[in-house]
Amino acid sequence: MTADPDLRMSTALITGASSGIGAAFAEAYADRGARLVLVAPSEPRLWMVAERLGARYGTEAHVIAVDLADERGPDRLAEAVAEAGLEVDILVNNAGFGTRGPYHELSADRDHREVMLNVVAVERVAHLFLPGMVARGRGTVINVSSTSGFQAVPYMTVYGASKAFVLSFSIGLWAEYRRRGVRVLALCPGPTDTEFFEVLGTRMSAGGRLRTTDEVIATAFRALDRGQPYVIDGRLNYLTSNASRLLPRGLVARITERVLRPGRSRPPDPSMSVRRVRPPARRSGSGPPAG
Ligand SMILES: NC(=O)c1ccc[n+]([C@@H]2O[C@H](COP(=O)([O-])OP(=O)(O)OC[C@H]3O[C@@H](n4cnc5c(N)ncnc54)[C@H](OP(=O)(O)O)[C@@H]3O)[C@@H](O)[C@H]2O)c1
Repeated sequence: MTADPDLRMSTALITGASSGIGAAFAEAYADRGARLVLVAPSEPRLWMVAERLGARYGTEAHVIAVDLADERGPDRLAEAVAEAGLEVDILVNNAGFGTRGPYHELSADRDHREVMLNVVAVERVAHLFLPGMVARGRGTVINVSSTSGFQAVPYMTVYGASKAFVLSFSIGLWAEYRRRGVRVLALCPGPTDTEFFEVLGTRMSAGGRLRTTDEVIATAFRALDRGQPYVIDGRLNYLTSNASRLLPRGLVARITERVLRPGRSRPPDPSMSVRRVRPPARRSGSGPPAG
């Protein structure tokens, strides 16, 4: 995997950097020498990532604790970045979560936050940082979509729709900016070994194994090198996502509804149970603020 092996003069801002795919992006960019801006609501968890990468790669990391599902969250993020005197060269719009269940039974407030984070914040954060990249004639935007973005996903309807937005939004921007030095990529992972399923409140019961975050990052970097507008991580995910595009949308939705209908889904495969992977906390000279 390459995607710019030497990024010593670059700043990478990663939302949802405290765990999972975001933390893996942070590590990959730290490994390439980039300065990091790590963003998520939980400040202590961000400091754990910052300290680990500082100890391992000597990374300069800025931690910005912000709730991006809040209407003002993205603007507060941009203000904090400006106050720190930073210019963002690489933006990874990764923060997101899903909800699962019959739509009318789900919390309206949680669904609203899901749309605010997965859709509204992705668009707003892109608006805040992409113009600077265009002005400088270089930059990279990775928006994390999902294989769920290729079809309607009954019982995860809001999530699927939110990821369809991210996919379409990213491909549109890719076409607009590909000749202006700014690369835009929609990254579409399938089921991946992160805390996603714990937040979703379910265990993964799909037929294949969970992909690792390292595999997802390698896929993203390969696609960036090739100048692709979007990429699906994993061969099986590629096949199933594209197969669903060849069939009528209503038919795909009906089949998916049967598979995901509560009480009808297959019992969880123990080999697919979620494994929590947390970096060990390490103290270094510049530790987190108390509290
Ligand atoms: N894992 C999968 O199977 C899978 C598949 C396809 C797509 N994806 C997508 O991949 C992205 C990353 O998910 P993941 O799998 O790495 O899950 P994860 O381990 O649960 O990580 C989610 C990250 O988002 C942050 N976050 C949550 N709410 C936030 C908010 N209101 N404002 C800012 N940040 C917030 C979390 O911060 P805290 O630690 O502070 O909560 C955490 O850093 C998501 O967009 C997800 O939809 C995941």
